[in-house]
Amino acid sequence: MGLCSHMFKILRRGKYFVLLVLLLSVLAWIATFSGETEKAVLVSPATTLTLVKEDSLRDKVNTLTTAPDRLNTPPQKVDCPQESPLLQGAMKLSFESSLKLKDVENDNKGVIEGEYEPSDCAARQSVAILIPHRNRERHLLYLLHHLHPFLQRQQLHYTIYVIQQAGDATFNRAKLLNVGYLEALKDYSWECFIFHDVDLVPENDHNLYICDNQPKHLVVGRNATGYKLRYKGYFGGVTAMTRDQFLQVNGFSNTYWGWGGEDDDLRIRVELQKMKIVRPPADVARYTMVFHKRDSGNEINKDRMRLLGRTPQVWRKDGLNSCSYKTLSVERLPLYVNVTVDIGKPQS
Ligand code: BGC
Repeated sequence: MGLCSHMFKILRRGKYFVLLVLLLSVLAWIATFSGETEKAVLVSPATTLTLVKEDSLRDKVNTLTTAPDRLNTPPQKVDCPQESPLLQGAMKLSFESSLKLKDVENDNKGVIEGEYEPSDCAARQSVAILIPHRNRERHLLYLLHHLHPFLQRQQLHYTIYVIQQAGDATFNRAKLLNVGYLEALKDYSWECFIFHDVDLVPENDHNLYICDNQPKHLVVGRNATGYKLRYKGYFGGVTAMTRDQFLQVNGFSNTYWGWGGEDDDLRIRVELQKMKIVRPPADVARYTMVFHKRDSGNEINKDRMRLLGRTPQVWRKDGLNSCSYKTLSVERLPLYVNVTVDIGKPQS
């Protein structure tokens, strides 16, 4: 009898055990089934939005849970494409007399203190644009108006530097450009420099403001001269040289006061180093020159032929390594860095 009631108890407990197992199996099956339908819903095209939301949420979570050192470093950008998809080709330029500096600032909100870099990719080159200047505010405004969007369409990291010659001694474009190079390198180790006249506006954004493995001359033609190269060795207006190429030729000569010769002198330096000047195709390297009369204080340099004759003898000691100047101010304006400098005056 005792044995019977013991057996009966075990059987009764076993029944509950079987029932429990059954119940758990049903629950597990329901859970699996609902999980699968959820997945099926997620991958259906109609709910891409749900996926995107989930992905961004996952990204957020990932960001929050990654190693602490990754939190401090900005995410790595992919390189910008070889050819920017933003280029527009040849453009008809307009120069509205009603244009204001504020308009240009409003059109270029991505430019901070003259500097810009693409937000969605890593620029292929970091370029300093150097513009020698004195009393040409209107030309500068037109140039900024066209050049900022032009450089942004090329997806470059750049800063525009305007180098102002203080005082009223004869203008010295070349020395101002040497100063610009030296001052810009205090901000950043730019790999490429564009030496840019204030009155030349590029017409075609396929004319890339990047440096090559040889010095590059960007102005093949301009409207005022029927878009023809002025002469075979012409190296003026707008040129591009890497930091090292410019250093190798000891920069520009500091001794050309007034108009002319300094660009030919740079060409001689380049040739002495056995470098070869390259140019973009003529249909691309086109500029509009904003009309102006010759400035007072920038009269033709009558001494330029004599100076050019001695370049091979003096280039090593006349240039970047002998460029003495006094920086009067460096203002970081919204659209450019304004460097005002005392470069002295011609030796009598
Ligand atoms: C001058 C250059 C100038 C060129 C084109 C030459 O005679 O020496 O400085 O760029 O003419 O105008």
